[in-house]
Amino acid sequence: MGWRCETFEKDEPYIELITSPNIPNGIIREHVVNGDQGKLIYDLAYYWPQYTSITSRANHDVMLFTISKCTGHAGSRIGWALVKGKEVARKMTKFTEICTIGVSKEPQLRDAKILEVISNSYLDFTLENFLEYSQSRMTDRW
Ligand SMILES: Cc1ncc(COP(=O)(O)O)c(C=O)c1O
Repeated sequence: MGWRCETFEKDEPYIELITSPNIPNGIIREHVVNGDQGKLIYDLAYYWPQYTSITSRANHDVMLFTISKCTGHAGSRIGWALVKGKEVARKMTKFTEICTIGVSKEPQLRDAKILEVISNSYLDFTLENFLEYSQSRMTDRW
């Protein structure tokens, strides 16, 4: 018998992970679980202008990102989270620390540099803007 999240009826806490844009159809998704004790986690790995129209500032309690889809550096296995709750952020940090037993310094340094270059291209108009460049390449292709 299948289980559908829209018909979830248990009176208990749950975690709902929302991948938006969704894979592989690119649809922007919202939460669907029929409950009111949920912690909603938005996986925004593909929430970049080269993959979808960014029409508003994402503003969820917990938002996950990864450099692998932003710039294509999938081998780094580096991501980050924007989290509104201090205590949730602390628990996530501890969980990550235990799961990874520490992230290697090399990808951390490389990806910090990549993100620095991208953000600098927003400040220095003589530089080509990475996200706009990526968006135009994807538009040309598709
Ligand atoms: C939707 C989504 N979220 C998160 C990840 C994890 O990214 P990574 O482990 O490469 O940083 C992936 C990778 O395929 C993904 O497709």
